[in-house]
Amino acid sequence: MQFENYSYKNNELFCEKVSLNSIASVVGTPFYVYSKKSLVDRFHEFKASFNELDHQIFFAVKSNSNLNVMKLFYSLGAGLDVNSGGELYRALKIGADPKKLLFTGVGKTEDEILLGLRNDIFLFKAESIQEIELMNKLAASENKKARIAIRVNPNVDPRTHPYITTGLYESKFGIDEGAAFEAFQFASKLSNIVVVGIDMHLGSQITKLSVYQDAIKIINRMIQKLRESGIHLTHFDIGGGLGVQYNSDLAPSAKDFADATIPLLKETNCKIFIEPGRYLTADSGALVSKILFTKEHRNKNFLIIDAAVNDLLRPALYQAYHHILPMIQVNRDLVKYDVVGPVCETGDFLALDRPLQKMNREEHIAIMTSGAYGFVMSSNYNSRRRVPEIIVDDDKFYLAKERESYDDLVKNEKIIEELFK
Ligand code: LLP
Repeated sequence: MQFENYSYKNNELFCEKVSLNSIASVVGTPFYVYSKKSLVDRFHEFKASFNELDHQIFFAVKSNSNLNVMKLFYSLGAGLDVNSGGELYRALKIGADPKKLLFTGVGKTEDEILLGLRNDIFLFKAESIQEIELMNKLAASENKKARIAIRVNPNVDPRTHPYITTGLYESKFGIDEGAAFEAFQFASKLSNIVVVGIDMHLGSQITKLSVYQDAIKIINRMIQKLRESGIHLTHFDIGGGLGVQYNSDLAPSAKDFADATIPLLKETNCKIFIEPGRYLTADSGALVSKILFTKEHRNKNFLIIDAAVNDLLRPALYQAYHHILPMIQVNRDLVKYDVVGPVCETGDFLALDRPLQKMNREEHIAIMTSGAYGFVMSSNYNSRRRVPEIIVDDDKFYLAKERESYDDLVKNEKIIEELFK
């Protein structure tokens, strides 16, 4: 269900029991807000859906890496799927047990692999023969054994946006199905590698469950073939990717996802790992912004707001749709707006041709479903300061990350006097 923890009370938009206006008056705008209840409910829903299966959920940290969000899922029982040294650092920072960490990524550096080895994380995913060789070498130098799962690219079209399609041969991810069998044979002979699993990740914002079924069937056949050759895998990681409802399009629930996949997954006799990101975080979040100015160009209407493409990149990068709700609902005529930010790019838009109640200067809007791939993809372009992140818990709200200061923007730069002599 959309926006389950955002609702109007006396025409004012609330997150749980906190009015967004009350947050804006304390922290200013723009800001991201996340509903704790939404995060917790989504996790429980996901977990309950897979109850009958021997499984472990690893939260895909890349979707929202605020330390509090990570710690919340971890404390509910999730492991963490990290995709860089920075995400691994965050996981260690919240006190996660390295035994509950997976290290994903098509291009891990030596330093990142060493960081994982030294902390004894549970599993590295390997995405090429060269990477397997490097992991073996580094593990030997550390006198350790690296536990790996090989990521197989099953060449199944996830029917999502091309930029977030990962399970096709033409994308850079995984080892293609044809070469994977040899990769397993190769890795299993290396002295400092222990091959425990097989992994896939097909793409993101997937709404067709047959996509998962087709890919799981391919991986199941591979698990069987490997078994016959003497390689007994204990773990099958099906990745993340389950979509959510952004617009009027219908997205399957975690229960639908589980019902469609559990019978096939049971055939593997493997422990199943699942790495949801967006499904757990997207609906919890909104980006709240103030209208700086309104303006008309002939028959075009603009809302110029204080949030911009650097704060929420998804509309510009993927033509993504995010619902927009006025913070105060008023019975006015509908107007079609381009909702744009202050950045010097025509691509700086949050919505195009969007019918909204007529809006005025100084009023606020909430850009919904932005808890996943929102703040984490933000940048300092135009030397804009990254915005605060707020977590609402029932009738309280907490500043989980402060707004950057102007000093923060330049703190790693220095003026080199010699250049100006
Ligand atoms: N596991 C792996 C290996 C991944 O690469 C990803 C996401 C996930 C799990 C989590 O996928 P999710 O459940 O969140 O779909 N920036 C894009 C999405 C990029 C997804 C990258 N990989 C967006 O804003 O739509």
